[in-house]
Amino acid sequence: MKNNFISLDDITTEELFELFELADSLKSRFAHPPLAGKTVAMIFQKPSLRTRVSFEVGVHQLGGYPVVLSQEGIGIGTREKASDIAQLLSRYNDAIVARLYDHKILLELAQHSTVPVINALTDLSHPCQILADVYTLRQHKLLRDGIKIAFIGDGNNVVNSWLEMSKLIPMHFVLAAPKGYEPSSEILKSAQNAQVSTIEITRSPESAARNADILYTDVWVSMGQENERKKRVKDFAGFQINSKLLSLAKPDAVVMHCLPAHREEEITADVLEGVRSVVLDEAENRLHIQKAILAKLIGDIK
Ligand code: CP
Ligand code: NVA
Repeated sequence: MKNNFISLDDITTEELFELFELADSLKSRFAHPPLAGKTVAMIFQKPSLRTRVSFEVGVHQLGGYPVVLSQEGIGIGTREKASDIAQLLSRYNDAIVARLYDHKILLELAQHSTVPVINALTDLSHPCQILADVYTLRQHKLLRDGIKIAFIGDGNNVVNSWLEMSKLIPMHFVLAAPKGYEPSSEILKSAQNAQVSTIEITRSPESAARNADILYTDVWVSMGQENERKKRVKDFAGFQINSKLLSLAKPDAVVMHCLPAHREEEITADVLEGVRSVVLDEAENRLHIQKAILAKLIGDIK
């Protein structure tokens, strides 16, 4: 039976820590490339720097070959149906990595593919990012039960994946967002019902940041929302991570951002580039953790 990696609901807490161990070991293990002779199709309907490069480099480092496909090239839903693309790519490849707008299309690919499908971001969620982020917290020895993670900004795809992660490890997750920018109600309900973590939504960035271990933010205007820019910039005024907000957090708090960042919008340059920021570690760890996902799903691990 093939497994997919569509959301963090696809793994257990035990598997989460197994992935971390695997990522550690793959950092130094090249003697037997686990993806030797394998190919991975990578579909990008949206722009990407980190995800594209970390998956492409990761597949190469594991001994496989990445086939990168753009929306212009294959036309999902315009030139060809997602179900046909999934079946065809399954005949040639060992896995499909996809960054798409509509999460339903990702589920359609997964339904019709006979090889594992990995979510490289949709409008709904970004599980690879949050795996890398928690791996980063573990690297910095910050991972502990009840860790207070304050997300300041939009209740978007990144927040939805944090909520899914909150079912795997106990945390105190607080989202400070303006009215109208809440996360998926279904994912929120599922996270609350799991009763693993404490989850709060507030309109006050200050109350979220107070005593936090982690301050996290993401852009106010996600990919595909460019025509809402004017309204969003207005609505998110005051929801910025800056040195004043950081001063409310714990003295050793760290600052996270999935990147790309818009300096002086959701975060000031001094904080993004300051000593408390771990944003480059998060980006590097995309490579290590995605190699672990690939090795676990399709690798020949000896
Ligand atoms: N964080 C992230 O997914 O970056 P890219 O959009 O550049 O891939
Ligand atoms: N929320 C952002 C994340 C980018 C990595 C977006 O979807 O554009």
